[in-house]
Amino acid sequence: MKKRRINNGVYWLGAVDWNRRLFDSLIPLPDGTSYNAYLVQGTEKTALIDSVDPEMAGVFEQQLDEVENIDFVVAQHAEQDHSGAIPFVLEKYENAIVLCSLKAKDLLMAHLGIPPDRIRTVEDGETLGLGGKQLQFIYTPWVHWPETMVTYLPQERMLFTCDFFGSHFATSDLYAGDNPAVIQAAKRYYAEIMMPFRSIVKKNIDKIRDLDIAFIAPSHGPVFDHPEQIVSAYESWVSEHVSNVVLLPYISMHGSTAIMVDYLMNALIEKGVTVKKFELSSTDIGKLAMDLVDAATIVIGTPTVLTGPHPAVFSATHLANALRPKLKYAAVIGSYGWGTKAVEQVSALIPNINVEVLATVMCKGLPKKDTFNELDALAEEISKKHAELEHIGPPAI
Ligand code: FEO
Repeated sequence: MKKRRINNGVYWLGAVDWNRRLFDSLIPLPDGTSYNAYLVQGTEKTALIDSVDPEMAGVFEQQLDEVENIDFVVAQHAEQDHSGAIPFVLEKYENAIVLCSLKAKDLLMAHLGIPPDRIRTVEDGETLGLGGKQLQFIYTPWVHWPETMVTYLPQERMLFTCDFFGSHFATSDLYAGDNPAVIQAAKRYYAEIMMPFRSIVKKNIDKIRDLDIAFIAPSHGPVFDHPEQIVSAYESWVSEHVSNVVLLPYISMHGSTAIMVDYLMNALIEKGVTVKKFELSSTDIGKLAMDLVDAATIVIGTPTVLTGPHPAVFSATHLANALRPKLKYAAVIGSYGWGTKAVEQVSALIPNINVEVLATVMCKGLPKKDTFNELDALAEEISKKHAELEHIGPPAI
């Protein structure tokens, strides 16, 4: 794809990675992704904002054949999917220097071997004149690493944001328009890398909220030409709002745990609670992360393997703990063959989640009448607790 004009002196460069299905060898990418860089040309100086993943450097290098000079490379984030092609840019444009936050300098040197004399750090709020255009650098830490910053171009009412507001979404469209799939992809990305830093992300939103913005240009996914949509969505995700939703990640070896999960699901549905079920041997773990953004309750369903929870449950519970979601309540249900310590081990896996554990329902072998009575009581308790919550409503965007 060739470089594309956004508006006066501002161009999109980069690569759409339609085929990538895994990020950081961890995160599923069902919709592919893109690595966006932006060229901002003033009357005197030219700045490049971010670069691309080294895997796609060839596409980027061809685009730069049409760019005569670059004076500044703004590295908003040191992770390689944005900074990986900067060494090539510095080699091609011998007088170019990298501008980055104070914390980014060390990371760029460590990860990419960029020499310190080619890097100049900028302060939070510092401005840079390009001739008729001015860039303002705004520190926004922890979206995704501690060094991240965004760049504001007031003359074009554009905010360049790197991972912040980004989406892993491959598309030939330059703009997001009103496509709800882009907001969903952005929610998935927020869940996977920013949710643990929710309170800091909220401060970052407050920091950019009053800027006059017509376009938000992230370094993954399309440009938001209706920026209010993505900013409002983020505000909802970082807010205290939780949804009247129970997440049911589970696995079943001989069917007993699955029977319990289905019974509980039906009991909750009858009480007006939305249920989202995830069979962990086949589920997209990114979808579970996304639904953890605003669900009020998680109920983990596990059989017992060698006295503990099934390894797939271990893994999903570890993920939930690392993401520090807003969950209010939790429960563990499941079946065992001859003995179990699954509940104790699952509980030990979630020290970061500040939840009230409502119940544990474990049965030996097939669930029986007593088991179903306990599941009915759990559904009743969840429904009652949800009704008492102050900030609860339907599932968020
Ligand atoms: Fe898209 Fe944190 O890199």
